[in-house]
Amino acid sequence: MDRGDGLLVRKIREGVVVDHIPPGRAFTVLRVLGLLPPKPYSGRIAIVINAESGKMGRKDIVKIEGYGVEDLSLEALGIVAPGATVNVVREYKVVEKRRLDLPEEASGVLRCPNPTCITRKEREKATPRMRLVSRSPAKYRCVYCGSTISEEEFQDLIAI
Ligand code: CTP
Ligand code: ZN
Repeated sequence: MDRGDGLLVRKIREGVVVDHIPPGRAFTVLRVLGLLPPKPYSGRIAIVINAESGKMGRKDIVKIEGYGVEDLSLEALGIVAPGATVNVVREYKVVEKRRLDLPEEASGVLRCPNPTCITRKEREKATPRMRLVSRSPAKYRCVYCGSTISEEEFQDLIAI
């Protein structure tokens, strides 16, 4: 069922719709997808913030025309918007639906909160790697130093 956003933004012909994004995270979704300046995307993008949602109360939606699911980093998106849906649209029809979830491992997505971690060194910096140690409540652990990151900290530690 199409609630709320149908009034604001029309359907797209070809591309990707990220739906059921937790409210307020649409711009973070665009950022991790590399679609914000300084590298602007030449296709059309529609952003709906705080759309009505039956399930969630409010949600954000991002529609990206001419974009393929292979262009998306599902690992990073899963951390920004767990529970969101990626819809692939062709000739106005949803041909594929993928539910996003927290990845078991995230490489280069979350920064380690520990200032002395090897991933934070100026020289010979290692790419941060985090492993999911608990889903509910969500918690990641740094592979290098063992520091943990709780759900409330995720959004502030996104490295992309
Ligand atoms: N959508 C779109 N353009 C299309 C087809 C769909 O922008 N040509 C959008 C819809 O507006 C909706 C999302 O893609 O935001 C998913 O569409 P659809 O699967 O038809 O909606 P629902 O059944 O409500 O999806 P769900 O069950 O995932 O909530
Ligand atoms: Zn660390």
